[in-house]
Amino acid sequence: MTQPLLSLHHVGHQFGATTVLQDVSLAVMPGEIMGLIGPNGAGKSTLFNLISGEFKPTHGHIELRGKRLNGLPPHTIARLGVGRSFQISRVFGSLTVAQSLTAACLWRGGFGYGFWNPIRRRSSLFQAVDAQVERLMTGLALTHKRDTPVGELPYADQRAVDIAQAVGSGAQLLLLDEPTAGMSQAQTTQFLERIADITHDKTILLIEHDMGVVFELAHRVAVLVDGRLVACDVPEQVRKDPAVQRAYLGEWREEGESWPR
Ligand SMILES: Nc1ncnc2c1ncn2[C@@H]1O[C@H](COP(=O)(O)OP(=O)(O)O)[C@@H](O)[C@H]1O
Ligand SMILES: [Mg+2]
Repeated sequence: MTQPLLSLHHVGHQFGATTVLQDVSLAVMPGEIMGLIGPNGAGKSTLFNLISGEFKPTHGHIELRGKRLNGLPPHTIARLGVGRSFQISRVFGSLTVAQSLTAACLWRGGFGYGFWNPIRRRSSLFQAVDAQVERLMTGLALTHKRDTPVGELPYADQRAVDIAQAVGSGAQLLLLDEPTAGMSQAQTTQFLERIADITHDKTILLIEHDMGVVFELAHRVAVLVDGRLVACDVPEQVRKDPAVQRAYLGEWREEGESWPR
């Protein structure tokens, strides 16, 4: 049987006396796209922070390919292949598209950004890095913007570069927390099609507000409500799950959304 890439075993988290996640057990298989949905405040982003090591779970444990992640610092977890969005505008905003992707790809190779000019001439590593940077830019249709500072790109392009950096840095598991926040449904669909090429062989955990998108894209959908996992199944099953429908109706009415069919 195939080993899960990521597995959560009875994971719980508390902020002080407040329990935010409780008894979450979940296995994500290699190559799977798993949607993670749930009302605001359900604990979705906290779960990502536990996986990436920003927070330590107060209960249970998390494994990547069977190796325990608990207690490891975020940069070690990133090196093991867990990628999440960087805050590009803050960290990489003044670098061009090509430079920021080069930095990410070099990070995978174990070099800091400042190293690359002197080493470039000597190492075949850099040919491989350059080729990967080209592949990423081609995949995102961004080659014509290679010399544009990332901070000056339109929002959707910035988000795309953000994800390309995670891919370039060697992530096998991508944690995408509302990558299309602020986009219309049409823009969302377009954006997700755009990143499909560079992420096709990755395992993805996707928090996405647009239910239509999640139910179409994800192989399985996990549903968090009040810090508990109430469902995790293929979209057809989750869609007709009464507990999920009940948990959602209030919020969806408020936001004028309808249950996806
Ligand atoms: N750093 C923090 N300190 C204290 N409480 C937090 C912190 N981060 C999130 N919370 C609380 O944890 C709950 C879950 O938040 P979050 O994981 O951001 O939910 P979601 O991403 O599903 O909207 C919320 O009640 C939120 O207020
Ligand atoms: Mg969130």
